[in-house]
Amino acid sequence: MSNPIGGLLAGKGVVVTGAGAGIGAAIAERFAAEGGHVLVVDSNRDDAGRSVDSIKRSGGVARSCVADVREVASVEAILEAARGLDRSIDVLVNNVGDYRPAGLFAGSSEADWQALYAVNLLHVFRLTHAFLPGMTERKAGSIVNVSSVEAFRGIPAGAVYSAFKAGVNQFTRSLAVEVGGLGVRVNAIAPDVTQTPQLPYDRWVSEEERSLIPSWVPVGRFGKPEDVAAVALFLASDEARFVTGHTLPVDGGTLAASGWYKRVGKQSWTNRPRNP
Ligand SMILES: NC(=O)c1ccc[n+]([C@@H]2O[C@H](COP(=O)([O-])OP(=O)(O)OC[C@H]3O[C@@H](n4cnc5c(N)ncnc54)[C@H](O)[C@@H]3O)[C@@H](O)[C@H]2O)c1
Repeated sequence: MSNPIGGLLAGKGVVVTGAGAGIGAAIAERFAAEGGHVLVVDSNRDDAGRSVDSIKRSGGVARSCVADVREVASVEAILEAARGLDRSIDVLVNNVGDYRPAGLFAGSSEADWQALYAVNLLHVFRLTHAFLPGMTERKAGSIVNVSSVEAFRGIPAGAVYSAFKAGVNQFTRSLAVEVGGLGVRVNAIAPDVTQTPQLPYDRWVSEEERSLIPSWVPVGRFGKPEDVAAVALFLASDEARFVTGHTLPVDGGTLAASGWYKRVGKQSWTNRPRNP
């Protein structure tokens, strides 16, 4: 994708966490293509480097910051790296999140809950807290948090993960109210079935099962990270200037279907999918 003159984020400083792969990488790439100067934060040095190289090859502006957002010390490292962009940070995307360790709640431990807290919610507080003062001072900011459809529905073997993602939604909503009058918008996106290293649907679905995809996902295919990045871009940009406090599912219709499955090759649906 070429870097247009102008673009929806022209000249804006942008921080994206977990931007070395998957959805975060697609967001970083798209935001840079729209003129943003992007700080690619990732705990994986190789992934961060690849993402920055790819943006630069397309004519965009990016720097990397190797940091683990689960650590308190990452905040200072990210702030310092962001200063290197020579722009005020107007856009923050808190994208890091992970459903693992997954498992039945009865068999889970305090350490599992703490690990899920650290990777799904605590860093959202930390980085938002770090970048918010600059945004409110300039009366310019847009924060996009990455939640999950699992924050809206029940997910067996993911009760604690879904509780923290629901926490992301509620934090988004409440903070939006708090800072709405200070020129900062806070929104979230809730992906589902998007092909990434964490959720490699291509590997999980066998050739024989591929014909079933339209029965699972109303739009008839799995998502691509670019599909999610496009919605994050809308929320981050001034196009969404009157939108704040919302979590927008980006799921090809799975949440709306809520248990309804399309019968393969037919124009009928079932909520008893023994043989869809
Ligand atoms: N892919 C989906 O279908 C899906 C569904 C629901 C929610 N989500 C959410 O979308 C977000 C991105 O998911 P993904 O599937 O692209 O993930 P991914 O695991 O494929 O990629 C995550 C990236 O973040 C980096 N990362 C992981 N932990 C980090 C840490 N502690 N500090 C810094 N960087 C770290 C990884 O190195 C990797 O580059 C997550 O919040 C996830 O919960 C994704």
